[in-house]
Amino acid sequence: MIHIDGAAQIATLGGAGMKPKIGREMAELGLIEDGGIVIEDGKFVFVGSSGEARRYVEQHSGGKPVTVLSAAGKTVTPGLIDPHTHLVFAGSREFELTLRLQGAKYLDILQAGGGILSTTERTREASEEQLMAEAERRLDRFLAHGVTTVEAKSGYGLRLADELKQLRVARRLNAVHPVELVSTFMGAHAVPPEYKGNTDAFVRTVIEEMIPAVARAGLAEYCDVFCEKGVFTVEQSREILMAGKRWGLKPKLHADELVSGGGAELAAELGAVSADHLLHASAEGIRRMALKGVIAVLLPGTAFFLMAPPADARSMIDAGVPVALSTDRNPGSSPTESLPFIMNLACLTMKMTPAEVLTACTLNAAHAIGRASDIGSIEAGKQADLVIFDAPNYQYLQYHYAVNLTDTVLKKGRVVIH
Ligand code: NIG
Ligand code: FE
Repeated sequence: MIHIDGAAQIATLGGAGMKPKIGREMAELGLIEDGGIVIEDGKFVFVGSSGEARRYVEQHSGGKPVTVLSAAGKTVTPGLIDPHTHLVFAGSREFELTLRLQGAKYLDILQAGGGILSTTERTREASEEQLMAEAERRLDRFLAHGVTTVEAKSGYGLRLADELKQLRVARRLNAVHPVELVSTFMGAHAVPPEYKGNTDAFVRTVIEEMIPAVARAGLAEYCDVFCEKGVFTVEQSREILMAGKRWGLKPKLHADELVSGGGAELAAELGAVSADHLLHASAEGIRRMALKGVIAVLLPGTAFFLMAPPADARSMIDAGVPVALSTDRNPGSSPTESLPFIMNLACLTMKMTPAEVLTACTLNAAHAIGRASDIGSIEAGKQADLVIFDAPNYQYLQYHYAVNLTDTVLKKGRVVIH
């Protein structure tokens, strides 16, 4: 039994039932001041005031060993969840930053064979072991920042064998690393050089060869497409995501990142689980997402790193779209594992409140990867993933910015950072 004792504040995120939070609900954190938590067999068994938790331990420990972790003066939250990363790839692209500072555009670099395609070259060359080692270091950094679950996309193989290689790495890491992984197939991330100028033929390969193979191997739960002018059109994205659906892969979309192109509308039409980026989503697209309950996964770190204005989070929240946040961890547009810094950016660049931000990185993020019945809140019966932050209250996390305030992390009831 583990007893988290005397926390200054617990943000439980409890009581929301099985729906993501929308509108004003996003600011309701289920706060407990001077709280305690009891964990047994990897699950939360009691959450309440400090006094109640102490009594629970007295009555239920029955001579079992109890590990007491004092959270005096500190804030406890659910383990943070990152619902959008490109975790598994080889190498890095720091030289592109210099090019972009000199005026090169992200898509121009891609169209000249760099960007995603240069990472694809490195990833194709890399062995599974090398990819494992690189991704494991990234996961270690996520965990050190309080992130206990991460979605991971393929999309740097862009041919069957290498897409499968990336997805196998994610599966193997999930088995050995404390951070839990949820896999997404993103074969339609860019058009590889061997199909240059022949996007339609590549789309056929994704649909006829890759999706069936990925689904048969049980290597992914979701299918994602980079739906963007100059990459994959709305029509191509629709075809790919419908094929994914037929094979049991739930749709997600990189939508309206660089220009407004009907991505949000497509996400609503397909009943996608989430539409991500949305810097240029139309008002109509946002309205339709709200109607269909499509989660907006916003990536303010990507906007920051590409020096672009961020998504209009306030309009989305006002329209009733459930909002989640993510790092978008990738080597080109967002090379960071610090979800807490992304949370800072969400406040400071998109005017989300500290309470909305915490909901977006816990409960709503859990919904964006279909895991809300197990994680995303501190409630009896859920998996015991939590973070103790060196902060007197949750607002402080967005105030003392750009430093890592993570003190202790528990994953499935096990202390993994202390
Ligand atoms: O989400 N937009 C497309 N994909 C990634 C970037 C990948 C890369 O540059 O390597 C993104 O920003
Ligand atoms: Fe992305």
